[in-house]
Amino acid sequence: MCGIVGYVGGREAREVLIDGLKRLEYRGYDSAGLALGSGEDLLIFKEVGKVVELERMLQEVPAGSHQGIGHTRWATHGGVSQVNAHPHKDGSGRFAVVHNGIIENYSELKDELEREGVIFLSQTDTEAIVHLVATSFSRTGDILETLVYLQKRLRGTFALALMWQDRPNSIYAIRRGSPLVLGSSEGEAFCASDIPAFLPYTRRVQYLEEGDIAEASPSGIKIWDEKGRPVERPVVTVDWDVTLTGKSGFSHYMLKEIYEQGAALRRSLKGRVVDGKTTVSRELGWNVEMVSKWKKIHIVACGSSYYSALAAERLLEKWTDLEIKVDIASEYRYRHIPCDTSTLAVFVSQSGETADTLAALRKAKAGGAHCLAITNVSSSTMAREVHSLLLLEAGPEIGVAATKSFTSQLAALFMVALQLGSMRGSLAPHEEERLVDELVRIPHKVELLLEKESEVREIARKYTGSKNMLFIGRGMSFPVAQEGALKLKEISYIHAEALAAGEMKHGPIALLEPEMPVLAVIPRDSLYEKTLSNMQEIKARNASLIAVCTEGDSLVPEQAGSVIEIPWTAEEFTPFLTVIPLQFLSFHIGSILGREIDQPRNLAKSVTVE
Ligand code: M6R
Repeated sequence: MCGIVGYVGGREAREVLIDGLKRLEYRGYDSAGLALGSGEDLLIFKEVGKVVELERMLQEVPAGSHQGIGHTRWATHGGVSQVNAHPHKDGSGRFAVVHNGIIENYSELKDELEREGVIFLSQTDTEAIVHLVATSFSRTGDILETLVYLQKRLRGTFALALMWQDRPNSIYAIRRGSPLVLGSSEGEAFCASDIPAFLPYTRRVQYLEEGDIAEASPSGIKIWDEKGRPVERPVVTVDWDVTLTGKSGFSHYMLKEIYEQGAALRRSLKGRVVDGKTTVSRELGWNVEMVSKWKKIHIVACGSSYYSALAAERLLEKWTDLEIKVDIASEYRYRHIPCDTSTLAVFVSQSGETADTLAALRKAKAGGAHCLAITNVSSSTMAREVHSLLLLEAGPEIGVAATKSFTSQLAALFMVALQLGSMRGSLAPHEEERLVDELVRIPHKVELLLEKESEVREIARKYTGSKNMLFIGRGMSFPVAQEGALKLKEISYIHAEALAAGEMKHGPIALLEPEMPVLAVIPRDSLYEKTLSNMQEIKARNASLIAVCTEGDSLVPEQAGSVIEIPWTAEEFTPFLTVIPLQFLSFHIGSILGREIDQPRNLAKSVTVE
């Protein structure tokens, strides 16, 4: 939630910062702001709305600043307004701060500061930070001592970038709990919530550890730990291609990312399924002795990541002898669920930063579980805190709606399930071979399905006037129905609900009428006939039916007015294919309705607050 960026060097700071903020806009987009060094005062510019509004405002401002910090906001404390937008400055205007995260003790700090005579202008928790810096600096007269004190006083999660008027060649960065990376190249330095913000300028990156304080200047980067002791953090050269973070000619990131799924899946599977065997154990650092000790698996995630986990649950039940529990992170973290050294706890998160999933991870780790993160971001907090890590290798996902990360999560989770089955001896070698042989064919089948976009667009046109839509499925198709309903809600703002098809007659069937379309996910699998009966019941009540079924099916088209066919695949792998038409459907309904596809209202890509 919220993106921050900082720059100091020879370039025009506001250009680098605006460009960086646009690349971070997926993190929040209700208001944006910049602080620029002018040689004398710190100049602050803020605007409600997207970064382009701020850019427009800056057209009137003369160029010539080479130091600055910027912010794109997703409101937590205080409504969406110019005064609540970041940066915030202290009363004297000597310090300016941008912040991502939440300061839990901000009311306590605010009371204390107000007693000292400080006047607050905004309703944000961030403003307490900048006043605390200023009051503490007036006592210590030393910036490092001030920032160490700040670390000590702040409770909660934060990534901060700070400017001090007296140091026109430096920006300061501090992190605890929220992501912050530093970048550097000859004569310039950057800080940002995420690497794409400065990827056009440098690939040399330093990851800050918990509690780190950094001073970035054109002559280099100095880092201290939370006690103010100098520390070294390795400089890593990332191999990300800057084109991966652009739209490559597509109208939207979401559409580009839907189309990238074949390639993303190939990368996810590469070197991990070889000659009919799964080989992820090496990467995970697992051996048979270790794996044999586990009695249960907890899989914890939010949103789309939770739905991919629900699909994996069904396969883990089938391929392993372990007790499986899948939970939503915001529930799991507060439940009294026994979790100990006999537990494998798996955390699925595209960003690796989702606050609830991270809290669940810390809880499971404290309980003694072996923790595995399945994430797309190698530098994320989850990736750094777990015992084992499996990267999605999906490439950067910028659209707020999860698409390629969902299918890559399925691949990663299914490989873990296959690996556990084979290591524990609960999955016969010939069965593993059959499954792996089909799994490696999936990227190609996904690509064949992408050719159906125009067909799905025509179907989408019929449903742009709908106020509601139901999604149904059974077995492996129920999590896909859930994912399809979530996609439609977030992209088109049409209310959608997913149901296990067998649950219809226990209540929701009362909703059926001609204006209530129902989308059935019904591939040819062991539950096909059951779902077909449910479709007949729906048709008998005059609801309009759309179906996603396997090619060559002659019975489903008799029930459904609109049909989208997928290539055949083994029952276990149908979610890879059935989800694609649902992604296209929500994209096109949203697009025809003129929605903000890549940045739907009220949402942010990384939910780093509870
Ligand atoms: O980064 P994560 O996978 O932990 O994010 C979890 C959810 O916030 C995310 O999947 C969200 O539901 C997406 N907007 C769905 O499209």
